[in-house]
Amino acid sequence: MAKIVAPSLLSANFGNLAADVEMVNKSDAEWLHLDIMDGVFVPNISFGIPVVKAVRKLTDKFLDTHLMIVEPDKYIDRFADCGVDMLNLHYEACTHLHRAIQHIHSRDMKAGVTLNPSSPVSLLEDIVCDVDMVLLMAVNPGFGGQPFIENTYNKVTQLKELLLRKNSNALIEVDGGVNHTNAPKLFEAGADVLVAGQYVFGSKNPHEAIRKLLQ
Ligand code: DX5
Ligand code: ZN
Repeated sequence: MAKIVAPSLLSANFGNLAADVEMVNKSDAEWLHLDIMDGVFVPNISFGIPVVKAVRKLTDKFLDTHLMIVEPDKYIDRFADCGVDMLNLHYEACTHLHRAIQHIHSRDMKAGVTLNPSSPVSLLEDIVCDVDMVLLMAVNPGFGGQPFIENTYNKVTQLKELLLRKNSNALIEVDGGVNHTNAPKLFEAGADVLVAGQYVFGSKNPHEAIRKLLQ
């Protein structure tokens, strides 16, 4: 099992992103999580391609990109051109998911599929062998700082069973409401990657917050 923390830039200081990216560069976090929201798939708008390109120039960390947009398949090439390492598409937003996953791989990126809290793990039966990661939302997507939905533990356990049964090497990532209380339980249940926004960037000592999540 991998044990990776991916701070979510959504909770960073947009007046001085370079400073917060530099904090992540110097931290124990191996990944940086980028939340792209279009105001249609989710009721919020975050940032887009120019910001992602700027962030790419500021870091060598693995850029884990979470697309909360409708018709995400239309933007695969644009994000590939930004140099991100992984694209996560929502199951709920993508009609031709298998084709989109192949497209992502053809552009030399890792591919992830994301599930909303209300979408059951069983939906992934026929796609888990094609993806590099499954991202389980532990909040309804759209905002940072929301409370963790407790049913996520069950979903991690169910997903772990599904991956074993299907012989899939996909990583398990959990996103939303992650903190030092639920992190050990999530890793214990089988999560490999934890996204944390408010817990890291809202902390007085973000380096320490990241270390605490990894403990
Ligand atoms: C929510 C985003 C998350 C968010 C997590 O839609 O996908 O990545 O930034 O923020 P916290 O950790 O504050 O819940
Ligand atoms: Zn996210």
